This record gives sequence, structure tokens and C-alpha cells, in this order.
Amino acid sequence: MDISFTNKTAIVTGGGSGIGETVSLELAASGANVIVADMDTSGADKVVKTIRQKGGNAESFEIDVTDASACEAMVAFAIKTYGGLHLAVNNAGIGGPAAPIGEYPVDGWEKVISVNLNGVFNCVRYQIPAMLEAGGGAIVNMASILGTVGFANSSAYTAAKHGVVGMTKAAALEYAARNIRINAVGPGFIDTPLLSANLDQAALDGLASLHPVGRIGTPEEVSALTCFLLSDRASFINGSYHRVDGAYTAQ
Ligand code: NAI
Repeated sequence: MDISFTNKTAIVTGGGSGIGETVSLELAASGANVIVADMDTSGADKVVKTIRQKGGNAESFEIDVTDASACEAMVAFAIKTYGGLHLAVNNAGIGGPAAPIGEYPVDGWEKVISVNLNGVFNCVRYQIPAMLEAGGGAIVNMASILGTVGFANSSAYTAAKHGVVGMTKAAALEYAARNIRINAVGPGFIDTPLLSANLDQAALDGLASLHPVGRIGTPEEVSALTCFLLSDRASFINGSYHRVDGAYTAQ
């Protein structure tokens, strides 16, 4: 059974780059109307253009997920444009400073928590009422392997991603009986601008060697899991956290 999202509308935050870009393209190719939401409007516009060139439906939306009222407006835009909201991938995220916690920049901590944790809450907070209105829905929150294990010099990111996993479980309990499924995805290190913009080749090779498969992952490998979890094929999968990490966390 192929996955189909025909007549479904999806929001993808951070949809203008990396994993979010690939998820947006895959959702649209499977029939969804996609709101490509990002603070980088040129990235989002480029993804929308690609989707439309392939015959799909998409609109870009400028968003800073740290702004709760902007997240409310994003959901209202999806409803106004396509008539309802059924799917969401809360994926916008940043890396943040690298430092041990005893030296961690306080403003850096606040920024990472604000985007990677509070930003996911701000989105889910307004997506849920819209999905209840639509009769149900499915949400994937983009966590990380650092939602289950630690990583030195990344305390803020690790704390935020553990928080996303916990929030996902609580939210799923609250809405499981009302036909909304909420899951989290935990990628290992993935080849996206988040990594390549910040690390040289030697550092990337070092990260690859941490994965038993001997390489980092691709956005397509994360998107495949994400789209499966959003689909009706995953109808009994709810409140859980799924790694896509080349056996990183099996060690
Ligand atoms: P990326 O940097 O390629 O894309 C992230 C997108 O989020 C960018 O387009 C950026 O403009 C947007 N964004 C950042 N802050 C935002 C904000 N406040 N409001 C709205 N949009 C904002 O990154 P990538 O790698 O695709 O990451 C996507 C998600 O996957 C993030 O949550 C990241 O933590 C997570 N992840 C990434 C991994 C990796 O190795 N690349 C590994 C595990 C998780």
C-alpha cells in the first residue's frame, strides 16, 4: 500500500532547508497541500517553487517558532488557504553553542531552549485545536538521538531534545482518544546545512565514525520514517519516539 496524503494539509516548520525541505517535498509528492514554514523565506520560497514545478500544492509562510502568536497565525493561514489542518512536522531547530555546561553561554542556552523546545510547544499548542476541528490528525516532532543520550558540549540541545520527547508522550496521552497521533523522530547525524555549515570535513568524518554503519544519514532517510509515521499505515503508533540513526544509540 502506497502512502497517500491526498486531501490532507500539512505544516512543516523549518521546511526551507535540510530535513524539513525533504519532508516537504515528499509530503507534496504524496498528495498533501504543504505549508512550508520557515524564518528563512528564500529557502521556503525555493522549496515551494520546486513543489509547484512538480505539480504539487504548497505555500510558504514566514515564521519564527519562538513567537507563539506567529504559530497561531501559521495554523490560521493553513486553514484559510486549504480548509483545515491534518498533519504537522515540527522540525525547525538550531544547533547552538558548543561548550561544557560550566562555561555555557547563558544567552545561548536560552536561545536553544526557545527554538528547539518552546518552539515545538508553540506549534503543537495551536495545531491540536485545528486537528480536533478537522476530526483528527498526526504530528511528528523532530527530536534527535540527543533526545535519548547525551553529547558533550551540547547540554542545551540535549536538554531541549529530551524535552521534546517527553512533551510528545504527554501530548499523545491527552489526545489519543480523539484521533490525534503524536510521535517523535530521533535522527542520528544527518547531512544537512545544520552540520555542513558549522563543521569541516575532518569533523564530519569524525561524526560519521560514531555511527556503527560508518556514515552519517541522509534527509531522505529521516523523511521516509517521518512520512510513514504521519500516514494511516502507522495508525497504532502513538506517543512513541523512533530513532533513525545507523545504530548510534544501540551502542
Ligand atoms: P537545517 O539548518 O538544514 O534546517 C533547519 C531550518 O529551520 C532552517 O531552514 C532554518 O531557517 C529553520 N529555523 C531555524 N530556527 C527557526 C525558527 N526560530 N523559526 C522558524 N524556522 C527556523 O537543519 P536540519 O539538519 O534539517 O535540522 C532539522 C531538525 O532536525 C532540527 O530540529 C534539528 O535539531 C534536527 N536534527 C538534525 C540533525 C542533523 O544532524 N542535521 C540530527 C538530529 C536532529
